[in-house]
Amino acid sequence: MSPTTAPERSREPTADRTETKPVLEISDFSVVYGDEVKAVDHVSLSLAPGETVGLAGESGSGKSTLALGMCRLLRPPAVITSGSVIYRGSRVTPEGVDLMTQSSRDLRKLRWREISLVFQSAMNALNPVLRVRDQLGDVLDAHLKLSREERHDRLDYLLDIVGIPRDRLRSYPHELSGGMRQRVMIAMALAVDPEVVVMDEPTTALDVVVQREILAQIVELQSKLHFAVLFITHDLSLLLEIADRIAVMYAGKLVELGNSNAIHNQPAHPYTQGLLASFPSVHGARKELAGIPGTPPDLKALPPGCPFVPRCRFAIDACAGIDMGLRAVPGSEPNHVTACPFVTNESAKTNAGVAPAVAAAATSRRRA
Ligand SMILES: Nc1ncnc2c1ncn2[C@@H]1O[C@H](COP(=O)(O)OP(=O)(O)OP(=O)(O)O)[C@@H](O)[C@H]1O
Ligand SMILES: [Mg+2]
Repeated sequence: MSPTTAPERSREPTADRTETKPVLEISDFSVVYGDEVKAVDHVSLSLAPGETVGLAGESGSGKSTLALGMCRLLRPPAVITSGSVIYRGSRVTPEGVDLMTQSSRDLRKLRWREISLVFQSAMNALNPVLRVRDQLGDVLDAHLKLSREERHDRLDYLLDIVGIPRDRLRSYPHELSGGMRQRVMIAMALAVDPEVVVMDEPTTALDVVVQREILAQIVELQSKLHFAVLFITHDLSLLLEIADRIAVMYAGKLVELGNSNAIHNQPAHPYTQGLLASFPSVHGARKELAGIPGTPPDLKALPPGCPFVPRCRFAIDACAGIDMGLRAVPGSEPNHVTACPFVTNESAKTNAGVAPAVAAAATSRRRA
């Protein structure tokens, strides 16, 4: 594959996947910073075994807080105020374990072994004074009982799968390129065969070519090793290529969730439409790019009702009083849901988004 082409997934139909019990089920999850900043607001999201779910949203929408919070890695002033996160991997009991109620000791056993994380800045995540061999070895020693030979073979294997020459086991992080460091982080995340891998902007700091190579590698590894991925990025176009389903977050809330194709072809929420309109399509007709006007809201002073109102070209007075719960998008796939209640069958199909009636009302209000 050329490094500049998209990593292609051979996707099983997602419908089949979502019929199986989720390997990770986040329910009604909320986090506040201090007393005021509602960074994650009653979010529910699940991952089927082997599935890639993309989480998109602007800077400050709460993506990292959700990822860190669900693994209980947040520090004060963050407080988890509601929710459960049930993990149901094959090595735990069928009813699963709630990460929110585990002791710190049990949680340490689950992290890396069952759920691992890859962050944007590998230089910060890796220990600068330990060789690659020792950092990877520490993860193996903490979770597996391996003989000397098995440990040695496993270290070689981990470097092989991420495409780093074995002699780099002796390197310190500063001796590696940014791409290699990120690959080491991925090797570390996969070291003890977790069933869920959370990747928070894993390639954002890298140049486009290396970014593409690493994404292709993630897709390939996932199809071989069958772990589920929660892939976090502000880049919706990237998720359209690699994710089975996409969740869109705005101001701490989930505003749309559906199969990648449905999000691409029938985006229902005006925010999702704005994100899609802000990058060019390689295959489609040429179109003028449009950004989303305004700036992300201040989470300390959210408007009542839908938080997207100040930036929404379709907003009407009723939006200030709406319940932000997710509801089915008419005429789309059954698992395609949105928080905007003004979506009709017709408008979703034609990619116009909200109901023509609402759009007309908004236009006449602007004229008035
Ligand atoms: N330690 C903290 N104390 C107070 N507020 C915080 C803290 N960390 C994050 N926040 C706030 O919580 C909100 C969500 O932040 P978060 O980092 O989760 O967003 P994000 O979607 O990951 O953004 P980005 O795309 O920039 O990584 C933001 O408004 C941020 O300012
Ligand atoms: Mg973040």
